[in-house]
Amino acid sequence: MKRTKIKELLVYKPTGQTVVVSGWVRTFRNNQFIAINDGSTMQNIQAVVELNSLADSILKRITTGTCLSIAGELIPSLGKGQAVEVKVKKLDILGDCDPEKYPLQLKNRPSLEYLREISHLRSRTNTFGAIMRIRHAMAYAVHKFFNDRGFFYIHTPIVTGSDAEGAGAMFRVTTLNPTKPPLDEDGNVNFKEDFFGRETNLTVSGQLEGETYALALGEIYTFGPTFRAENSNTTRHLAEFWMIEPEMAFFDIDDNMQLAQDFLQFLVRYALENCTEDLDFLNKRAQEEEQAKPKEQRNDLGLFDRLKFVSENDFQRLSYTEAIDILKNSNPNKKKKFQYVIDSWGVDLQSEHERFLVEKHFKKPVIIYNYPAEIKAFYMRQNEDGKTVAAMDVLFPGIGEIIGGSQREERYDRILARVHELNLPEEDLWWYLELRKFGSAPHSGFGLGFERLIQFVTGMTNIRDVIPFPRYPGNAEF
Ligand code: 4AD
Ligand code: MG
Repeated sequence: MKRTKIKELLVYKPTGQTVVVSGWVRTFRNNQFIAINDGSTMQNIQAVVELNSLADSILKRITTGTCLSIAGELIPSLGKGQAVEVKVKKLDILGDCDPEKYPLQLKNRPSLEYLREISHLRSRTNTFGAIMRIRHAMAYAVHKFFNDRGFFYIHTPIVTGSDAEGAGAMFRVTTLNPTKPPLDEDGNVNFKEDFFGRETNLTVSGQLEGETYALALGEIYTFGPTFRAENSNTTRHLAEFWMIEPEMAFFDIDDNMQLAQDFLQFLVRYALENCTEDLDFLNKRAQEEEQAKPKEQRNDLGLFDRLKFVSENDFQRLSYTEAIDILKNSNPNKKKKFQYVIDSWGVDLQSEHERFLVEKHFKKPVIIYNYPAEIKAFYMRQNEDGKTVAAMDVLFPGIGEIIGGSQREERYDRILARVHELNLPEEDLWWYLELRKFGSAPHSGFGLGFERLIQFVTGMTNIRDVIPFPRYPGNAEF
């Protein structure tokens, strides 16, 4: 007989029909009540063993973590907490689980730090089950949003020869022998002999390749892994993260900001409507964590309130110049409470400034646009004032920057001048520059950090806990 997933069983009408359930034991009480979870839902199903129906040698092997397959009758439950249960007729142990050695005993809840060290088993916990089911739902919702609007999903390359952000924080891809690489006449490593006949890296962004398809298919998006070799040990940075990058022909910066808001609100609403059970669990979990904090550090709003608030209210839009004015005159700036005091136009905003604007000043998501050209990437469209570019960052409560984007410089002379000014390798960017020579068009796009979105939706504070196997400096286990 084929097994039925617990999620389906829980809504069946129990008429004593025979069903098969397979999953992992969460608890086993009184040698009688087995709570089984198969990951299809947060909820367990209770299987009831009739007294004296199983040998002691079998009962002993049923412990937390054991994998079982049970055939039995689906009946209305007599106990509290569940509508249906399975009366066991046949029980097979598929995989034993030594209770002396299994690290996930229910007695004391393991810390998230410890769980990271056993990422191959943390998937069995309620917390990671909930997070990863929500992560799946969000990935599906991303595709749904764009598909419904006629965007095309473009697969941009993982191995690239260009540095999209011009930031240089790239992982090298090579098959050369690191201890004995071939050298050229000048004694430098000869990458002509490397696999691709040139230097290559893992991509930091699919944007540049994405633009080539926006200027052909109109509206496209990418959704794939991206890599940054920056030594950032924060709760918001990963070395390998997933990014969604829409790119739209004929969009200006205002259209771009509106799409970013619509997109984020759609995703949050999708979670509220489709992930209630998992969100409910994470909300309770977050509440317990909040209670452990000192009063002044606690979040005013619960998880559901935060999600509802963001999905229902327009984001605050303001220019970089306006943001600097607000920050300059703010209390923490005057009292030198900021680690980086704002004293002049042109400085980059630190996360303390972003959080002040979002959490204290406006108390809602904020979009800052028209940043100084000097602190933004070379491809952003130059404004007529000669000092700012049509950049935009979306800032979220508790997260900071969740989206970065811009209108792109579509004028050949302007972008070429910028490439020269910044000393960027024109020979690597030749194809990108040619887009501006052959049928150029105004266009815009942005990048959403998928894990930062999942952090916001789940309320998890560390980005390392919203991706199955986090990659960060000093860690690539699993
Ligand atoms: O602001 P970023 O660097 O922008 C780009 O890469 C552009 N090419 C996007 C575009 O316009 N198509 O990154 C975009 C977003 C950030 O706002 C942040 O959410 C996320 O990607 N991000 C990271 N997430 C996790 N770990 C990191 N190290 C991240 N770096 C950026
Ligand atoms: Mg950015």
